[in-house]
Amino acid sequence: MSEKILIVEDELNLRKLLSIFLTQQQYQVIAVDNAEEAIELLAQQPIDLILMDNRLPQMTGLEALKIIKEIHPEMFIILMTAYAGVDTAVEALKLGAIDYIVKPFDLNELKALIKRTLELSKAKKQGIDLSPKIQLSNSDNQGHILTNSPNMMELCRNIAKISQTKTTVLITGESGTGKELVAKTIHYYSTRSTGPFIKVNCGALPETLLESTLFGHEKGSFTGAYQRQIGLFERAHRGTLFLDEVAEMSTNLQVKLLRVIQEREFEPLGGSRLIKTDFRLIAATNRSLQDMISTGEFREDLFYRLNVMELSLPPLRNRKNDVMLLARYFANQFCHENNKELLDFSISAVEVLNQYAWPGNVRELSNAIEHAVVMSNGLFIYPQDLPAHIIAHKKTPDFNPDFSEDEQSSTTLKEKVKIYEKELIINELKLNRGHRENTARSLGISKRTLLYKMQEYEIAETIN
Ligand SMILES: Nc1ncnc2c1ncn2[C@@H]1O[C@H](COP(=O)(O)OP(=O)(O)OP(=O)(O)O)[C@@H](O)[C@H]1O
Ligand SMILES: [Mg+2]
Repeated sequence: MSEKILIVEDELNLRKLLSIFLTQQQYQVIAVDNAEEAIELLAQQPIDLILMDNRLPQMTGLEALKIIKEIHPEMFIILMTAYAGVDTAVEALKLGAIDYIVKPFDLNELKALIKRTLELSKAKKQGIDLSPKIQLSNSDNQGHILTNSPNMMELCRNIAKISQTKTTVLITGESGTGKELVAKTIHYYSTRSTGPFIKVNCGALPETLLESTLFGHEKGSFTGAYQRQIGLFERAHRGTLFLDEVAEMSTNLQVKLLRVIQEREFEPLGGSRLIKTDFRLIAATNRSLQDMISTGEFREDLFYRLNVMELSLPPLRNRKNDVMLLARYFANQFCHENNKELLDFSISAVEVLNQYAWPGNVRELSNAIEHAVVMSNGLFIYPQDLPAHIIAHKKTPDFNPDFSEDEQSSTTLKEKVKIYEKELIINELKLNRGHRENTARSLGISKRTLLYKMQEYEIAETIN
């Protein structure tokens, strides 16, 4: 059975358009024109998703959102706001809306948003809750894994399963793919979440210091050991020990680590007593341990102990669906931090972001968006706001050797003009808050032409 969507929109034309469009997308659709009726309806039948306008005749969308979330905390609600209401959008997220969409919007954008929200809702119903978990005092950075890509979703399902066990996990993946975030997620979803999450970066400390940090030492056990220090193996008791950049550990220490994993007990430096400890071990690396085994840099026996369960994080270039999802998430975050009004991406900026290969993965994307938010001085992030090397990498299809030059330039030029035209119209509509006469006037076209083009490009209209 297809999912049921409830539309709450007082403007007749938009309500009709949305109903027809979503029915075409094979959803079951119910549409009402006020919030009061929507709340009543929720008591009578199960709804998978609510698409709600904010400006409604009596109770506003935000007020309704608050009430609905109290009665149905699990309900997925997307708020539709006019451009002027970006503050409302932020407020909506705080009140528990899953997302928002700014009018006038592109129907394809809405389609993608609904699809991704329903996937999330489905995952939730199957018991895989990937939204931020309970706030814990020992967590410094409670981020959550955002994804809209099948390969990452599969990985998230595995995280949910692994969390419930004590299995040792090896997380592999290029730099910036989210290894640490995954390690934290496993911890906070596990029964050990009330215990400590202890991270050690094996590449950051010289061998002897790393050893005494892990094992701890008794007072006077070596020059400079003025007092007793508890090792991280002991601190991680009942919690999780995350060994980041495990490939950087010396072979000497690798042997010692192997012994601790096998025996689950260890001796602090200079001490004679054995300490028992119960931690879950998660290790991460961006280097290939197999290659290092063949060169003798990494011990094979330790590898098998660590690699009981491997989670391999795909690079960002192999999860195209995530680029814009993450870009919007970071834009939101950085606008908030910099007290800027929420910025949207111009269509050409979306094109650039989607084409770039992201060798530094999610971390690089996050940095690029921070750069763009700071540089932007309008309502939109344009390609020129992004770091220069990212624009420089933009593919120029005109030089694609697979096509004859003629064929190339004619199709791409036409397509490019269309993309540009659509972008101009959406931007202008937003600037004019959906007012069609004003938009047509500032674009220097007739209102009829504007309406025709809005239809052609499937730009949803509102009379706000
Ligand atoms: N799927 C995601 N959703 C949201 N944020 C993400 C996601 N993946 C990564 N991030 C964020 O990107 C940044 C980099 O992630 P993280 O530090 O976990 O990567 P890493 O693989 O450990 O990188 P490195 O190898 O450089 O240590 C972090 O701020 C993290 O919160
Ligand atoms: Mg890391």
